[in-house]
Amino acid sequence: MKNLKSLALCFSLVALSLNALAAGKVNLDHADTDIMDRASLQNGAKLFMNYCSGCHAISFMRYNRIGSDLGLSDELVKQNLMFAGNKPGETMVTAMPEDAASKWFGGVPPDLSLVARSKGTDWIYTYLRSFYEDESRIFGVNNKVLANASMPDALWSLKDTQSETEFDNSVRDITNFLDYVGEPAKLIRLQLGKWVLLFLGVLFILVYMLKKEYWKDVKYGVWRRRD
Ligand code: HEC
Repeated sequence: MKNLKSLALCFSLVALSLNALAAGKVNLDHADTDIMDRASLQNGAKLFMNYCSGCHAISFMRYNRIGSDLGLSDELVKQNLMFAGNKPGETMVTAMPEDAASKWFGGVPPDLSLVARSKGTDWIYTYLRSFYEDESRIFGVNNKVLANASMPDALWSLKDTQSETEFDNSVRDITNFLDYVGEPAKLIRLQLGKWVLLFLGVLFILVYMLKKEYWKDVKYGVWRRRD
């Protein structure tokens, strides 16, 4: 009986993972983002505030942290990223009340703090560019990457005013911003990494010289037991 149960469990696990594979079968475009590109991050932050923050919170991030990481003055952060009434030390919550969100979208729009970590930048980049008209859906659009998504095409007005390349670049900037938000320390980590390697390089020379010094006597047969 026990064996039968574990066999059944095995089968359902295999079926589950096959399902996940089948669901992830959409071809994703390469986002090609560069987290070191400050202008792109700044533009992404601005676009995010204008087009996404009405529904999505980034509750792991504070406005003033974005300001210092992206090299924006307090004034610019206030002008471009914050809505009236917010304080610089606050996290990026959304103005949307939860009960209203559940009514409108059948659920609260997910917090996007870690979405770049869970879905990856390619997924986000493709998702935002994959809305198509579908009258059977409430918002009149559906999505190729996330079938029957309950999110409207938030960037439709931007898509209308920009050329295809410009629009792709805007989406790339938003994706880049979400990637940064998923791991703000990456900016410091990548820069610090070079210095750490340099330090290890210098340390290696010193340690190697020390080793030579210690082994000199052994090698040339001068070493003998202390009597
Ligand atoms: C009108 C509200 C609304 C706006 C504006 C909006 N979203 Fe959404 N978003 C949603 C809802 C609702 C979902 C959940 C979709 C689902 O699971 O069916 C969602 C889902 C997502 C997801 C998938 C998250 C996951 O883990 O499945 C991403 C990524 C996303 N939105 C990014 C954005 C970005 C970037 C913008 C701005 C360009 C934006 N959204 C604007 C309502 C919104």
